[in-house]
Amino acid sequence: MKVLVIHGPNLNLLGERETDVYGQVTLAQIDELLKERSGVLGIELETFQSNHEGEIVERIHAARGPVDALIINPAAFTHYSIAIRDALAAFDAPVIEVHLSNIHAREAWRSHSVVADIAIGQISGFGPQSYVLALEAAANLDRSSGQEGL
Ligand code: DQA
Repeated sequence: MKVLVIHGPNLNLLGERETDVYGQVTLAQIDELLKERSGVLGIELETFQSNHEGEIVERIHAARGPVDALIINPAAFTHYSIAIRDALAAFDAPVIEVHLSNIHAREAWRSHSVVADIAIGQISGFGPQSYVLALEAAANLDRSSGQEGL
């Protein structure tokens, strides 16, 4: 199973940026954690970070076909990018939305996600573990495929 993880804008600054909200763990450490967990779960993992909306849209387009599940933390784009929403709607496999912080427990405007209804589910508030939980959910989707009702 091939899984693509997309990290949106400013997540390259994890570990330095608003550490009271996002913690001390860097993006490289999160990617390493995901790589280790992927090995155990038998997942072929690719990770991608961009601060640019168009680059994220193009990466989602390129994932159509080869990628079996997409995990995305759209970061600030979560709240307003219809371009990313539309790209995800055109993606042909499951999408899982992830946030480090609990977006429902912060400013009111953060609790609105324009991609939430395109996603199978949203994992929000568990720090770096949000990504690990999403990876496990993706692996479970793969295992249960063809076993409708289980
Ligand atoms: C975030 C939450 C967003 O509201 C914010 O703009 C981010 C990170 C999170 O992971 O908690 O950049 O997606």
